[in-house]
Amino acid sequence: MNKYFPAAMAVLSIFASCKNEPAKQDTATGTQDTVMVKDLHTQSNADSVLMKHLDLDIAVNFDARQISGKAVWDIDNKQMVSTLRLDTYDLTIDSVTADGKKVQHTLGAFVDHLGNALSIPVEAGTKQVAIYYHTGKNARALQWLDPQQTAGKKHPFLYTQSESIYARSWIPCADGPGIRYTYTARVTVPKGLLALMSAENPQQVNDSGIYHFNMDIPVPAYLMALAVGDIAFKPIDERTGVYAETNMIDKARYEFEDVGRMVQTAEKLYGPYRWGRYDALVLPPGFPIGGMENPKLTFCTPTIIAGDRSLMNLVAHELAHNWSGNLVTNATWNDFWLNEGFTVYFERRLTEAMTDKSYADMLWELGYQDLEKAMDELGKDSKDTHLKLDLTGRDPDDGLTDIAYEKGALFLKLIENNVGRERIDAFLKKYFDEHAFKTITTEQFLTYLNDNLIKGDSALAKKLDINAWVYGPGIPANAPHADRARFSKVDEVRQAFLDGKPAKELQTTNWSTYEWLHFLRKMPKTLDATKMKELDAAFHFTTSGNSEIADQWYVMSVTADYKAAYPAMDQFLSRVGRRKFLEPLYTEMMKTGKQDMARSIYEKYRMNYHPLAQESIDEIVAKK
Ligand code: BES
Ligand code: ZN
Repeated sequence: MNKYFPAAMAVLSIFASCKNEPAKQDTATGTQDTVMVKDLHTQSNADSVLMKHLDLDIAVNFDARQISGKAVWDIDNKQMVSTLRLDTYDLTIDSVTADGKKVQHTLGAFVDHLGNALSIPVEAGTKQVAIYYHTGKNARALQWLDPQQTAGKKHPFLYTQSESIYARSWIPCADGPGIRYTYTARVTVPKGLLALMSAENPQQVNDSGIYHFNMDIPVPAYLMALAVGDIAFKPIDERTGVYAETNMIDKARYEFEDVGRMVQTAEKLYGPYRWGRYDALVLPPGFPIGGMENPKLTFCTPTIIAGDRSLMNLVAHELAHNWSGNLVTNATWNDFWLNEGFTVYFERRLTEAMTDKSYADMLWELGYQDLEKAMDELGKDSKDTHLKLDLTGRDPDDGLTDIAYEKGALFLKLIENNVGRERIDAFLKKYFDEHAFKTITTEQFLTYLNDNLIKGDSALAKKLDINAWVYGPGIPANAPHADRARFSKVDEVRQAFLDGKPAKELQTTNWSTYEWLHFLRKMPKTLDATKMKELDAAFHFTTSGNSEIADQWYVMSVTADYKAAYPAMDQFLSRVGRRKFLEPLYTEMMKTGKQDMARSIYEKYRMNYHPLAQESIDEIVAKK
């Protein structure tokens, strides 16, 4: 049935043969030749029961803000256990059958972050369990939008965000990155709306409101996704296309023009794209993150639609995940850098291949600035600045920092600088190939790196100083730096402005988004409202249609109390739900004595934000 990889194998016997045993080991148990990696963020026992296939039959009810239906799991009770345990979070379980016969299930006590384990009695030969259920009000994966929260304003919209451990809030499942299964689904939605999943997708609305999906490549639960709304489709080439709210589709199609070529370019770098179609769905502005690499269908924020294709590196990032993450998956959330660090590296290589080196170098440099900021926030000695994390007893979201992204990517860049492009590319291509549809721990990766690239070259090993990167804090001393040529020019222009040259006379022709970002980011904190006004008159930042530039500008406006930007900022905060933009803005208001402003704006717009964004902003505005 599952031609790629038997699901729970990933958890059970990740493997063996560690010749060059790395200095420190995982939280692992096991015998000499089998290392069992425990994923502490699932309560399921998918290491004993193979979860082969999921067949979902669900209905989406916008009035009740509820998904209800049944999840039918094909299982192989290979260890002949008497109980199947699955993850749930705020789900109501209406009834359960095993091979068609009703059985008595139990829901365990609520465990922080993890939810309630669902226990289902099974027999050695049980082949199928069916769970009838509905979602609750606190389903963390779901964002229900009223019509006025969409771009089109006429129809409601629903989307899911399952990573890291939120799939369990809309599907009873074994919710760990190491547990893969194929799925089919039948989804009933209000007539006139289109439903899409991380699967083969329809391209237009049908009359029945019933949509069928098939995902024949096994995926972990965090890659389960659903979106429902007034959505239209436009092709890019034979295998790529873009979906968006109907009234946004033309803008989206324009922005995504290069995505067909992007997939081809990615394949040239690191081997075939193995997921069939590659489409992207542009969501309403409340989407809490930039993008999500749902297989076959990347989800992304509309804030990347700048009108000039300048923010497409986000799509490069989500596309790259189809190798790093979706194909080769972090075994547990402690190994998150293997998903994100590799993806940022791949993203920048892809961006470079699509543009040029000087352009990608700007992204490296901005990434370095982000990394320094993350180090400041976390504290240079914090264990959360190690690549290998320890998220025991915590929400995996705690690991969602620029450490995984930027320190992870920088580590690969360091390897590249030491061995050359040819060797690292051959290595990565082989790595993706040999681990396709499998999971990997940090320790296994290090072993693989030793065996396939370092190969006993002790001088190289010394230069890389792997332990400092993976198991040590801060930014190691051997961290590489990108070429700063384009940014040095920006630095000169900024300095000239600070030295009194009028903004209107500054040489900024042909600047990209990134030059502007660097120009603004490195302005002194003490820049006053008069200078802000001068910049605004020359460059119209307050009304910028580029979300990255606008966000940076609004943060600076708060610092300088440049009031002319406030109405536009208020607008921005009413519309945009992307945490990366919201958090710095609310934080800056709180830090600069504008608590009342922060709270009153937040009160107005809280309902427009995703539950996860609400959680983080609640915390920010609660601070004294
Ligand atoms: N997979 C992540 C998003 C994610 C990670 C969601 C962990 C929940 C938990 C996605 O690929 C991502 O990294 N998005 C970034 C894009 C950016 C790095 C280009 C984002 O949303 O900002
Ligand atoms: Zn990512």
